[in-house]
Amino acid sequence: MNQPRDILITSALPYANGPIHIGHLVEYIQTDIWARFQKMRGHHCWYVCADDAHGTPIMLRARQEGITPETLIARVANEHQADFAAFRVGFDNYHSTHSPENQHFANLIYERNRDSGHIVKRTITQAYDPVENMFLPDRFIKGECPKCGAADQYGDNCEACGASYSPADLKNPRSAVSGAVPEQRESDHYFFRLNDFEDMLRTWTRSGSLQKEVANKLDEWFSAGLQEWDISRDAPYFGFEIPDHPGKFFYVWLDAPIGYLASFKNLCERTEGLDFDRFWSKDATAELYHFIGKDIIYFHALFFPAMLQGANFRTPSAIFAHGFLTVDGQKMSKSRGTFIKARTYLDHLNPEYLRYYFAAKLGSGVDDIDLNLEDFTARVNADLVGKVVNIASRCAGFIHKGFSGQLADSLAEPALFAAFVQAGESIASAYEQREFSRAVREIMALADRANQYIDEKAPWVIAKQPGREAELQAVCSMGINLFRVLIGYLRPILPGTAADSEAFLHIAPLTWDAIAAPLLDHAIAPFKPLMTRVDPAQIAAMLDASKEDLSATAEPTDSNPHLTRDPIAAPVDYDTFAKTDLRVALIREARLVAGADKLLQLTLDLGGETRNVFAGIRSAYDPKDLEGRLTVMVANLAPRKMRFGVSEGMVLAAGPGGKDLFILSPDSGAEPGMKVK
Ligand code: 2FM
Ligand code: ZN
Repeated sequence: MNQPRDILITSALPYANGPIHIGHLVEYIQTDIWARFQKMRGHHCWYVCADDAHGTPIMLRARQEGITPETLIARVANEHQADFAAFRVGFDNYHSTHSPENQHFANLIYERNRDSGHIVKRTITQAYDPVENMFLPDRFIKGECPKCGAADQYGDNCEACGASYSPADLKNPRSAVSGAVPEQRESDHYFFRLNDFEDMLRTWTRSGSLQKEVANKLDEWFSAGLQEWDISRDAPYFGFEIPDHPGKFFYVWLDAPIGYLASFKNLCERTEGLDFDRFWSKDATAELYHFIGKDIIYFHALFFPAMLQGANFRTPSAIFAHGFLTVDGQKMSKSRGTFIKARTYLDHLNPEYLRYYFAAKLGSGVDDIDLNLEDFTARVNADLVGKVVNIASRCAGFIHKGFSGQLADSLAEPALFAAFVQAGESIASAYEQREFSRAVREIMALADRANQYIDEKAPWVIAKQPGREAELQAVCSMGINLFRVLIGYLRPILPGTAADSEAFLHIAPLTWDAIAAPLLDHAIAPFKPLMTRVDPAQIAAMLDASKEDLSATAEPTDSNPHLTRDPIAAPVDYDTFAKTDLRVALIREARLVAGADKLLQLTLDLGGETRNVFAGIRSAYDPKDLEGRLTVMVANLAPRKMRFGVSEGMVLAAGPGGKDLFILSPDSGAEPGMKVK
């Protein structure tokens, strides 16, 4: 083997406020295959990742749940890691950007850039929520599109007409946090002078570190001119306070990629002989690769290398961007059930299937890939079950029955075996270049040849003919050896099936070099089915459950949208009814709930006592139209913990739903707190 290389690989850090879904998995599976391949080749390869734990959305999500951000990110970290482990994404370390290591490197990288004059202070004007007392990121401002007038659009672009604009241009803007009209306020921010690094970035862009499409994109950005980058945010913010500026925090995107250094540092601290500087110092000899989605190229190919350079660290050897995932040709959709969480997939299907299917689709470019569910079923069944696993199942029984599991002591067809080994070079180069679809095609062509060999030799016929035992053992041993080579080649893609196959073959974990040595005069274990077929019913159940997931995670509504169609409920006796304490309530405040499209958060006054109630009436009411109105609520309903906080009661509303939803109002004269009888 050639000299082992030192390689550090990363995948983008998932945000710590939501579950892993199959769109994410394209990247983690792609990276994991590459990392496993490098390890199999004998290189010193490390694959690290972390949760991206900072920022306004995480702060607000925690607040809505009534927990601290630390509690939220700890819970999500566990969920993410369980999902990754189940998909056999084999990180060498999984850390968090909310860690001492990350704070250390964020401060260091900031301070070095500051001391070299790459950070400047500017006063900016920004939308401010006067109720929540916070500056609002663009996506927390909603209003009407200045171009087409569509309602309920985010502060930076319109989903209806595609226009991009600044939040100041939105008509009738509202804070998505409180519903208040945002004010414009000034604040000091700190900017990173990206343009100081233009020469270095232009050179780096052309050094082969980027895919062609990505380098072209960068050329466009260079032509447009590199802008200063705002790296600070005002309190309240969940992140790291900037060392010399109390009340100012690093923007989440500053410390997110620094999380790569932090996770690796954390690994070095636990790993004897692993030297951080060999991977990150200016003169590092190790290779460093970042796998990312094409939407975050700007951060990884401009800001990150520039900040590293400004802080006297090395720059990445390469950035590998990939495209997005579509399902059945369309964007993943919650209503179609194609927004499939990793966990929902795992409840119904074997992770090896998805790893194989993605591999069969992935190339080295940035094109989107499509998960066509019919094709997925057909391909997994035909290739993995019908071709690969079938080779072993066709041969193992005879070896076990006739020869106590003992393989022959020589190869029946050395030339065929040599051809299989020979093909390894091209397959390895496909893996190395991240052309996984080509690797899969070449491996499946070999699987066809192996099946053809077995078809021609027809061991089931030989087995019936006395006196041909040696031939039977030779043919089946040959088949098992071809299977072993195929499993070796598929190992980066199918780590679970490879491990099961290694157990069946009674062999040590396969390395790339070990593949060339045939298994002779060796006892194997009895065959157990290595993989079952995908049943279309499993796919249907997964899609169904993904739709259910949506309703389960959707905000509970306080009204029944099908009220008009529902039959009258069974009678209850008077005493049961009398237990329900209905009260007149004054709606003091009504506001939108960020991330909950159906809910309004109401502050209800019961004549002295106030209650926080989440009501599923957003489709029918503008919050400002509710403020000051009287309504009727169930005042003694046990408090319910929802995703967004605790709801302390229920507002009564009638109607089928959507715009046709009507809260009950008492006649004039009623007063807050009055009992409804
Ligand atoms: O886009 C995202 O999901 C980010 N959380 C990715 C961060 S990658 C790295 F910079 F940390
Ligand atoms: Zn528009």
